[in-house]
Amino acid sequence: MHHFSYRGGVLHAEDVPVPAIANEVGTPFYCYSAATLTRHYRVFTDALAGMNATVCFAVKSNANLAVIRTLVNLGAGCDVVSGGELQIALNAGCAPAKIVFSGVGKTEAELRLALACDVGQINVESEAELLTLSRLASGLGKTARVALRVNPDVDAGSLDKISTGRKEDKFGIEWTLAPELYRKARNLPGIDAVAVAVHIGSQITSLAPFEAAFLRVRDLVLMLRADGIDIRHLDLGGGLGIPYDHSNTAMPPSPDAYGEMVKRTVGGIGCSLTFEPGRLLVGNAGIMVAAVVALKDSTTRRFVIVDAGMNDLVRPAMYGARHEIIPVTEAPTGSSYASADVVGPVCETSDCFGKAYNLPSLKAGDLLAFLSAGAYGAVMASTYNARPLVPEIMVNGDQFAVVRRRPTLAEMTALEQLPPWIA
Ligand code: LLP
Repeated sequence: MHHFSYRGGVLHAEDVPVPAIANEVGTPFYCYSAATLTRHYRVFTDALAGMNATVCFAVKSNANLAVIRTLVNLGAGCDVVSGGELQIALNAGCAPAKIVFSGVGKTEAELRLALACDVGQINVESEAELLTLSRLASGLGKTARVALRVNPDVDAGSLDKISTGRKEDKFGIEWTLAPELYRKARNLPGIDAVAVAVHIGSQITSLAPFEAAFLRVRDLVLMLRADGIDIRHLDLGGGLGIPYDHSNTAMPPSPDAYGEMVKRTVGGIGCSLTFEPGRLLVGNAGIMVAAVVALKDSTTRRFVIVDAGMNDLVRPAMYGARHEIIPVTEAPTGSSYASADVVGPVCETSDCFGKAYNLPSLKAGDLLAFLSAGAYGAVMASTYNARPLVPEIMVNGDQFAVVRRRPTLAEMTALEQLPPWIA
């Protein structure tokens, strides 16, 4: 459920009419609903009630300070994957003890930063990383709380590019090789291997792959305990999908059904739990709003050309993802609809948000809302074609605020300089 709905024929974000935001900030822009963020966090934590669970928001899905702070104020921790995200989480007020540092290729500088900040957990993804961390931690006289991220060899059944738990994927330590590494970790200085972590992919729309992965984790924990390695903490990653385009995509399981499955698989083994949801918390809490630049009819197609491009929302071009697109001003009942391809201005054929959208008649200047754009939207934007990064707005009841403004061209180019040999 989210808080973007028509009132009197006009799309509102909570109590704010979307055109009022467009008038003030121009288009395109992202708009987040604080009420939806709050609701999603509560629904997820309620589904995990009684399981000694900590929810660490996956900052990679939306690194906006106001978004992170909203979740941190509700009690969330943060899952970060770079030194930059670690600093952003701290800036947003997240307690270091509630930060999990994940990632397949952390540099020594990043590991040092994590140790200096005393983050709650470092998820190690290879033997090489474990040895480096041991050297750095013992050099600093510290002990790192470590989870080994295991690769359970489970196909998440999601898009190929966002599945991470198959043997051939670069992520984690093959689960059959993990016991040996835990035994090694036991004797390494500066390492306290207290947890097992797993994350098998993103936008997962069935419980079965989670269940298969969590059962493997459970087996591993029992095996490790039999070996005297007393694991008492699990990090079960993120990945639970959200509804995107109601007409086309599978409906994901509810957070409650997910919670039940967690209880059924690993609930009884005496472990505290961490979760790393990103999309589930912010995906449907954000929309992107663009204006129609022009309409173009060919003999076979109608193109709706908008002022947002693949640089602003790359998911359709990158993954073939489809976001629901709706007019900000609702078409009156009885209006005729026609099939149209919604495309951006970027000079690439892949700058197409999707073909054959069923849209009412539109004219230049009309606003369109791209739904479910709160996760992996603004955070993946680029300045390709010298297009400024799209601004972000947050709505709270009847108020809204710009939470990241649109940069000027001068700001966009400020880091460039000519080499001395060019006059
Ligand atoms: N934990 C780890 C270790 C991850 O790699 C990810 C996502 C998450 C948590 C959060 O997953 P979520 O709950 O958001 O599914 N850019 C792609 C998604 C990439 C996901 C990467 N890892 C997209 O736009 O669909």
